[in-house]
Amino acid sequence: MTAAAQQFIAPLTFAALTGHKVITDLWTPEGSDPGDASSAIEHIDAAQSTDALVVAPATADILAKFAHGIADDFLTTMYLATTAPVIVAPAMNANMWNHAATQANLEILANRHVRIVAPESGYLACGMVGAGRLAENRGIVDTVLSVLLHRNDLAGETVLITAGGTREALDPVRFLGNRSSGKMGYAMAEAAQRRGARVILVSAPTALRAPANVEVVPVVTTQQMRDAVLGRLDQASIVIKAAAVADYRPRSQADQKMRRKGPLTLELEPTEDILAAVVEQRRPGMLVVGFAAETEDVLAHGRDKLLRKGADAIVLNDVSREGVGFDSDRNAVTFLTRDRAIELPELTKRELADQILDEILTLRSPRKEVLSESDPDLSMSLGEQG
Ligand code: CTP
Repeated sequence: MTAAAQQFIAPLTFAALTGHKVITDLWTPEGSDPGDASSAIEHIDAAQSTDALVVAPATADILAKFAHGIADDFLTTMYLATTAPVIVAPAMNANMWNHAATQANLEILANRHVRIVAPESGYLACGMVGAGRLAENRGIVDTVLSVLLHRNDLAGETVLITAGGTREALDPVRFLGNRSSGKMGYAMAEAAQRRGARVILVSAPTALRAPANVEVVPVVTTQQMRDAVLGRLDQASIVIKAAAVADYRPRSQADQKMRRKGPLTLELEPTEDILAAVVEQRRPGMLVVGFAAETEDVLAHGRDKLLRKGADAIVLNDVSREGVGFDSDRNAVTFLTRDRAIELPELTKRELADQILDEILTLRSPRKEVLSESDPDLSMSLGEQG
């Protein structure tokens, strides 16, 4: 704890709540022998045994000291001594945050690969409203995990993911929708981001929080989803269509709320198939993966869909199974390609997302070999398998 931190919380409280030793002083930790040399080099020990240095909240002062290499207390000394990744979550008055000095310091830190969890806007302790409020715990934890669990095997990829269920309005207050919660698509987005990809998440309405460091494009209707996806297709190297897209929309939409007067027949028209359009416009090397939720003859419908849509793979959900699928945090799927059907076991959607990404990446390796000209026989035989 820095001297400033101790103005807010007593070290003893912090130690009691965390169950960990609290270091406050560079020189003599409370109660230790002043002649004990080990205390003086504690910051070096701490710096070397640390997996990540997280400063939350980080004041304007600490950002300035980190940026300029000032080492005048335990924390600032440890910052210089550690080679572990550093994550700061700034919190301060909005004017202090916006000040050119603070912004210049942040730029220096970002260029040195310090991860900055941007503050949020809202009411600040000083009574002002603006940017400077400490990010939510969830965002800070996400960033720490993404730094620590970095697998980086998707670095250089741009993954375009659709999620959620599209809605087609009947009138200003009603829509045709479906039971998709968006959880699987959001889990895919989080997993891909953690593995180093740039992630664009085109999301129909959900109750979920966007994963950290993912570009979210909110949409409502199938038409909007189509425009959002096709408009960004040239940036994508992998397209994952986890959204439950409405197959039909009302032919017309009432301007005013529809009143109840006896039986009603709705006339529907088909929406455009986004996946088919993606396959049609794909660039060489782009991987396209669809999802399918089926209730009967799961494998047969899945195979049919794979061939009909021309995707590289279909992630097949049997939504008639208890405890998995819609709105559940768990799922079990079959990863279906033209020549394989891989059963992935029941797992949390987040765990499953990584397994699905593993399978997607195996689609890419033979593809690279096909492109290599070093072994024409191999290229031909792989090419023939499709
Ligand atoms: N999909 C799409 N655009 C649509 C409908 C579906 O892009 N208008 C995508 C979904 O995002 C999913 C895949 O196609 O990745 C399969 O969706 P599904 O609704 O199961 O397929 P349908 O084309 O509706 O086939 P069917 O009606 O035979 O079930």
